[in-house]
Order: sequence, then structure tokens, then C-alpha cells
Amino acid sequence: MAKIRKLSKNVFQKIAAGEVIERPSSVVKELVENSLDAGAADIRVELLKGGKGLIQVTDNGCGMSREDARLCFESHATSKISREDDLQRISTLGFRGEALASISAVSRVTLKTSEGVGKKGTLLIREEGELQKEADIAFPRGTSLEVKDLFFNLPARKKFLRSERAELNRVIKYMTNAALSYPEVKFFLKHGSRKVFDYPAVKNLKERIFQVHGGTLLEGLVKVDFHNEELRLLGFTSRPPSARGDRRLQLFFVNNRPVRDNTLQAALNQAYRGLLEKGQFAAAFLFLEVPLTEVDVNVHPTKAEVRFRDNRSIFQFIYRSIGNAVLKELGVKEIYTEQKEGKEPAYKIQERQQPPLLYHKGESLTYSGKPFPVQEEEKTGPHVLGQYLNFYIIAADNKGIFIIDQHNAHERVLFEKYQQIDRGKKWPCKMALTPLLFELSPSQVVSLEENRELLGETGFRVDSMGGNSYALKEYPEIFKESEAKAVFFSILEGVGREKIEKKKHLILATMACKTAIKAGESLSLEKMVYLVEELFKTENSALCPHGRPIVLRITKQEIEKGLKR
Ligand SMILES: Nc1ncnc2c1ncn2[C@@H]1O[C@H](COP(=O)(O)OP(=O)(O)OP(=O)(O)O)[C@@H](O)[C@H]1O
Ligand SMILES: [Mg+2]
Repeated sequence: MAKIRKLSKNVFQKIAAGEVIERPSSVVKELVENSLDAGAADIRVELLKGGKGLIQVTDNGCGMSREDARLCFESHATSKISREDDLQRISTLGFRGEALASISAVSRVTLKTSEGVGKKGTLLIREEGELQKEADIAFPRGTSLEVKDLFFNLPARKKFLRSERAELNRVIKYMTNAALSYPEVKFFLKHGSRKVFDYPAVKNLKERIFQVHGGTLLEGLVKVDFHNEELRLLGFTSRPPSARGDRRLQLFFVNNRPVRDNTLQAALNQAYRGLLEKGQFAAAFLFLEVPLTEVDVNVHPTKAEVRFRDNRSIFQFIYRSIGNAVLKELGVKEIYTEQKEGKEPAYKIQERQQPPLLYHKGESLTYSGKPFPVQEEEKTGPHVLGQYLNFYIIAADNKGIFIIDQHNAHERVLFEKYQQIDRGKKWPCKMALTPLLFELSPSQVVSLEENRELLGETGFRVDSMGGNSYALKEYPEIFKESEAKAVFFSILEGVGREKIEKKKHLILATMACKTAIKAGESLSLEKMVYLVEELFKTENSALCPHGRPIVLRITKQEIEKGLKR
């Protein structure tokens, strides 16, 4: 008996929708992309419950006729391509004619649209892909799509949605990317009754970066603008030593489409090799223009990735363009040497103003004082022998040798000390001599507002100065004024992603990390002895508060085995 049967339209549409629409931010992405493709100059997004309740996107683009409005919800119905050939040169963000069909299969949708003066507007209401109502309305030129109760008929998918705040953050992230790639378009985002941001149209990317991320970030960036016969790279990237603690501000766009891409990522990493401290990453807003025939945008269900015909030349071009922009800024004469066949590309640095490396070759085991003989019978804690590469403390006892990561060790010691202070509830804090001013991005504002109380408990007091400007008025006494702002930012960025019970842990861990001895710092013997003693008194001397190991142990047996004793 035949076991195979054709799925009903209802079922296959839900399966197809599952590929394209993962969460509220995917709906926002598809609708905003449609608005951009429609030539809108003003895009307004309003959400309820992080988009789980309602997503409304309104634009002033070209709008749709009655006929098109009826068709736009059909699968594979698009105005953007018509022939197979067109797939070779896609210049619009959408092209599959799938997004609205998918969205309307898994939510309740209301469409209002009009082509403008003298044309009748259209209202359509659909539920589970079926038309519920069609009517004439008065509507200005443009389109509004209201998406209610996402996944109301797909409980398996609904279960996987995260908190309102997490979903909102994803929407903010997408919208911010879109705003960066279209500076000349006004973007507005509202959540419930709260305005999240309002970016009026500006002339160029630089002004948009300023609107979105503020002047402080912009000051640490250099402009990139290079082209050859085929490719062009435009944008901004960090001027070392300016950098960030994570990669979240490394944004890539290919022909104005935000993408994730390993080649672009690798080229950026390579260009900064040796220029930034370990654990530091460049901020980058990079727009690559590639001939449409050289890139395939039809490779990923949500169009988040692209494929280049010639990865290698893209890598070379990006790597050199960034290298050129950054090294020129640092006052380097010769910028790069030609790559030899089959070898890694390399640029030669002849003259560098600030040597950014953490440690210098040849600096090895530092004995500060007499070596300690380690006796077989000894029972006390390990003796410090010295420091290796300014990164590690070498210690030993009668059972073996310890290699201790000085930064991680100090982090653990401080973390437990801070936990103790925190149990007493009142953190000693001090007032900034002059208020420390800074600007926050929309997601940082959300994070600040949600965590104000927790931050206050640990001694950070922040006042709003209007717009996206804020001032740090008080901070924990353990920090220098010059450190306070950076610590506050690290906390703000990290704390938003954590569950409530982990937030305090993260705040204290960040404070410990920022006040701990740095990797690369030369230490006196007294300091090392003190640190090792304190480390072995802590409750968990094996792991730092971020979960990284602190001590590597080589046992006496391992040494004997290795040396065939
Ligand atoms: N905001 C809008 N303004 C004007 N026309 C729109 C708008 N949104 C959708 N359309 C029309 O509806 C069609 C279908 O939209 P849909 O998003 O489903 O597909 P697409 O954008 O063509 O391709 P993709 O599935 O890749 O997004 C579009 O091709 C466009 O003609
Ligand atoms: Mg679309």
C-alpha cells in the first residue's frame, strides 16, 4: 500500500513558514525589507509584548493596487523578479515571493495599502492564510501591515520564543542594522507606549552611526573607502587601540544587505592581527559592493548569508582595504606586501607609533630573588618560583608544578571579596568629580532601565541628560575615575543577556575582571606570593568567575614519566 501522500496546502505552508519566520524579529525583517524595496523614506515599527502580541510596520513607499494586494499573500508571488535570468542579478532585498505568504500562514494579518492620491485604498484581513475581509479605505500612499498573535496556530514554534525583552532586543538589533544601511530613510521603533528610537533621515553613514551609537564610538573609528575595478569597500572600523570587548559591533553588508559571512569576518580578524590586545575586537561597519553577478544571495532561508563566486579575491580585497585604512592612520609607511602564492597574506609594519603587543619575545621566566629549593617533605602551600612571560605565575610544591594564570587568579580572589561586600548590601561608592558623560544605544538604554536597581546596589548611579545622553554620577570606590565608565559599559552590555539570578554574579564578575591584575603585567615576588596564598584560600580556586581555568598542574609523576626517571 502506498505510504506517500501529498501534504495539504495548509500543512506545507506552515512548514515553509517555519523556515522563513522564526520569531518576531524575522517578521520585522521581512516587512521592513519590503518597505525598503518599495522605496519608503519613512518606516515606522510598533510592537506589543516584544512583537509576540503585535507587530505593525507602516511605510510611505509605493503602495499596492487592489489586485497586487490580493496577490501579495500568495506563495511565490513577487514583483521583484520574473525570469530565471533575474536570479543572476538580484538588486532588491526580497525576491522569493514567500515572506507575506509565510507570515500570513502563522498569524492574523491586516493589510492597509494605497498607491496614493486619486487611488482607492485597500483593507484586507487574513487569518491562517484565508481571506476574512476585504474593503475600500482611505489611506495615504504607502503600506501598513499588522501582524497579530504570531504562531497562534503553531504552538511548537511559539514555545521556543524567548522573553519579551529578548525578542525586543533582536528586533532592535535588526532595525539598527537596517538603519545603518539606509541612512537616508527615517526609522522609528516603539514598544508598547515607549519610544525605543527615532532616527530621522540623515545624509550619510557617519551621521547614522552618530545617531545610533553616539559620538564616543565614532571618535574611535577610521573611515574605509577603497575600490578596484570590481569591488568597493566603504565604511568605518576601529582605530587601534580603540576596540571593544566582543564582536557584536562587527557588521557586514553586501550590496546593502546585512549578512553573516566567514570570509569577511576572517579578513577583518586578519587585518587587526597584532594591533589589538588579546580579547579586544574592532568595531566595524563595512559595506561591500560586489557586481550582482559575482554574489549569490539565494543560499539561506532567511537570506542572512550570501555566497561569493571568488572568495579568495574578496578576502584579499577586504583585508587590504582595512589594513590600508588602519595602518595609514597609525602612521605606518609600507602598508602591505604582495601575497605569495599559497601563503597567508601579510603586511609589513615598518613604523608603528604605539606598540600594542602585550608582551615581548625573549622575556621569559623572571626570577625575582633567590630560587626556592622545594623539598620532598614539605607540607605547606606552593612556593612561587617566578613569573613566565608576564602572564603566568610558576609555583611548585612537593607534588608538582603549578602554572597559574595571574589575571584569572586575581579575578577569583577579587570576585569572592566582592561577593562578601555585596552580602553586606552597601557598596562604598564615590561621586564623580565632574559627571562622566556618555551616549547609549537603544538596547543599552533598555538594559539600563531594567537593571537600574541592581546597578544602584553595586554603587553605580546614572542620570538621564536628555535624548540618548547619560551621566555617571556615582561609582564604586574600588575604581579609578578613568576606569569607572568602561566598567559600567561592560556591565551594561553583558547583564542584558543574563537571567535575573545570574545578573548579580555577572556584575561582580565584571567588576573583578576590570580591577584584576592584567595579563602582561610584570609582578613583584611579594605580589605573586600574596596572590597565590589568597587564591588557595578561595572557595573555588580552579575556575575564574567566568568559568575559565586558573591553574594548570604538572604532577611530579608526569615529570618523572616524561623525563624517564
Ligand atoms: N510594503 C510594501 N509596499 C509595496 N509593495 C509591497 C510591500 N510589501 C510587499 N509588497 C509586494 O508584495 C510582494 C510580495 O511580498 P513578499 O515579501 O511576500 O515577497 P518578496 O518581497 O517579493 O520576496 P521575499 O519572499 O524574498 O521577501 C512583493 O514582491 C511586493 O510587490
Ligand atoms: Mg519581501
